[in-house]
Formats: sequence, structure tokens, C-alpha cells
Amino acid sequence: METSEKKSQASFTRMDQATKEDFEIIAREGIHFASLLPDRILAHLKQLDGSVDGFPVSRFEHCLQMATMCEKAGKDEEYIVCALLHDIGDLLGSFNHADIAAAILKPVVSEKNHWIVQHHAIFQGYYFFHHLGLDRNMRDQFSDHPYYDACVEFCKFDQAAFNPDYPSLPLAHFEPMVRRVFAEPKSSIYLTENGEMPNIAEQA
Ligand SMILES: [Fe+2]
Ligand SMILES: [Fe+2]
Repeated sequence: METSEKKSQASFTRMDQATKEDFEIIAREGIHFASLLPDRILAHLKQLDGSVDGFPVSRFEHCLQMATMCEKAGKDEEYIVCALLHDIGDLLGSFNHADIAAAILKPVVSEKNHWIVQHHAIFQGYYFFHHLGLDRNMRDQFSDHPYYDACVEFCKFDQAAFNPDYPSLPLAHFEPMVRRVFAEPKSSIYLTENGEMPNIAEQA
């Protein structure tokens, strides 16, 4: 029993003294940990339920509402998941929430969808920055960018998703989509040249 317990943890105290065997343990555990990423994302998204902070609806309802609107508009699954998670950074990124959502989505979505999520806060500003003494046309700096129009479109959904009476679909409806989109990373520094997770030796 002690042996199997030891096999789940490496034994080094300094990484420069770690062995291949240590990292076979860590990689094996890491694959399991990574497989639970959708659960952690969904749990964090639910925390937005208590976050209203002056808005007409909670941040959680806003996310559900935007995802529902995108689905009804016929958008594909990856796009819908981007809509669902676009404000997931609100709790920890009060000054750069779009960067957090973009970082979470980056390994599993297209470059285009990543760019849209990363820049949505600037493009969303078109609808309210002028009320705060900011430049609502801040998005114009990207007017020649190939994804400009796509980000404008994304924010047309975003800015419209504050209706307390909108019949948003529940999170349970979107959960399978989140799990499918996050099932396999498309890009990561932890993937091999073949785009696969590092080969883990069979446990003896
Ligand atoms: Fe946002
Ligand atoms: Fe939003």
C-alpha cells in the first residue's frame, strides 16, 4: 500500500535532481489532472452566478444568454463555448478579463476564435466606453485586421445578452459542448512534435 502511494508522487526535492521516473509519475498524474479541466472550468463559471455588481443580470446569466443566442443563430460548437466562457476571467481579471478567457481557450480553439475572445473587451467598448469618458472607437486600431468583422459580430451577441427575461438555456445544456471542445488540446508546449501528449511508460 505504501508502495502504490509512493508511485503517485515523485521524490525529488529540487527539480535539477529529478529523474525520468519522477516525470513519468508526474506526466501520468498530469494527464488525469488535465482530463478534469472541464470540471474545473464549469465550477469556476458557476461562481459568476453570484456576481452581479450593478449589471441587469449576473455574469453567469450573461454568459448563458450569449451562448444561447449564438446557438440559436446557428453558430458552431466551438464558437458557442467561446461565448459561454468569454467572461470567465471576470472574477480574477478585473482589469484584463478577456486575457484570462483567451488564455484558457487558446489550446483548444482556432486562432481566429482565440483572437476574438482576447479582443472582445475592446470591441465591446464600442457600446459603453463613451459613457465612461473612454474612446468607444478603440476597436478601430484593428480595422485592417482580418478578424475585425468577426469580433464585431461576436460583440453584437455580447452586448445584447443582458435581458433578465431572456429564456437562456441552462448550463447543463452546454456542459457536453465544453467537454468536447476541451477533450484534446490542439496546441500546447507540453505536446510532442507529433501533437501528442508525452509517451508515458506503462506502470509496472
Ligand atoms: Fe467581456
Ligand atoms: Fe460579456
